[in-house]
Amino acid sequence: MSPIMRDWLEKGKVFQEKLVVIRRDFHQHPEIGFEEKRTRKRLIEHLEAIGLIVQAPMARTGVVALLEGDKPGKTIAIRADMDALPMEELAKHPYQSQSPGRMHACGHDAHMTYVLGAAMILKELKSELCGNVKFIFQPAEETTGGAKPMIDEGVLENPKVDAILGGHVWPDVPSGNIEVVKGPVMASTGQINIELQGKGGHAASPHENSDPIQMATEILQKLQNFVSRGVDPLENLVISICSFHSGETFNIMPEKAVLKGTVRTLNNELRLGLEEKMHKLIKSVTDYHGGSYQFELQHLYPATVNDPEFTDFAKTSIRDLIGEDHVQVGTKPSMAGEDFAFYLEKIPGTFLRIGNYSKEKGLIYNLHNPYFDIDEEQLGKIASIYAKVAYDFLNHQ
Ligand code: NI
Repeated sequence: MSPIMRDWLEKGKVFQEKLVVIRRDFHQHPEIGFEEKRTRKRLIEHLEAIGLIVQAPMARTGVVALLEGDKPGKTIAIRADMDALPMEELAKHPYQSQSPGRMHACGHDAHMTYVLGAAMILKELKSELCGNVKFIFQPAEETTGGAKPMIDEGVLENPKVDAILGGHVWPDVPSGNIEVVKGPVMASTGQINIELQGKGGHAASPHENSDPIQMATEILQKLQNFVSRGVDPLENLVISICSFHSGETFNIMPEKAVLKGTVRTLNNELRLGLEEKMHKLIKSVTDYHGGSYQFELQHLYPATVNDPEFTDFAKTSIRDLIGEDHVQVGTKPSMAGEDFAFYLEKIPGTFLRIGNYSKEKGLIYNLHNPYFDIDEEQLGKIASIYAKVAYDFLNHQ
């Protein structure tokens, strides 16, 4: 079947004004992870207005809607995250946050709007669609993660989802461009807690005590030695100890030291082997000093690994819409985390970087900055991109 020549950009433009209104409403009413009740209500209203069937609630505040094409075929999901951050917005504009201490500083207001825009466009193409599109709005990306509970509650089933598309506004990429990354795009995240138990006593007699501060500093060193000597230099691993608490005063050797930190890698296999290696390392130090320890490595998000084949397909689909010059191929993953990773563990898909840098428009701030804002002029265009990738996947793949 030859592709229908269609002006996809025009499709998005039709809804541009409406999308700005929708985005500003989300922006003015930010809600943090698992508290997205108003956001959820609004999403349902918008989806029903489009004429979509909204499915039963998932992950407490999550929203899922299904568009069934008139012809049979595969199912693709498009995902947005819903939550805001616990921070004060400092930028002064007419759509400033109306909730004190809450701000959409990570662009999730835009992410939801893109997906709603794609739903508006695709609904009009229902009669042509070979298969289904599932629109996933997921809570709590910034906190404990909404993706995993959504998957556990069956978001990728009924109908079974074959591929997934997502994206994030990206301050390093010029507005108007899309960056695709093949393979790892975001790192895994984990939290380390180490509690060292020594034996306290007079600072003048260290040989009669067991010094937890000495143990902690040796462990700090050895963890970094492990990064440089225990791991393939071509792999990426970051261990950062960011909290170290021990002792009260200058002449009493304390009983205890507590270290907290984070561990990140782009390699999910490397990640799973870390716990045992760190146990060994900590044990060797505490044994030597006659102390004991408690250690916990809490895995948060896996690395987000884009499927190379699906990424290539998405790249071609997007290039045909916005032109070769505006699709860039990124080679540098970010060491920040993203729970889109959980979907990609189950099915192929890609997580796009949506350009959001523009000096002229004052879009120079990083994510989570109190002055962060998104390029509203791109809303319709990104909706077109999402819609086209979904359409091409169902009708031309
Ligand atoms: Ni985010």
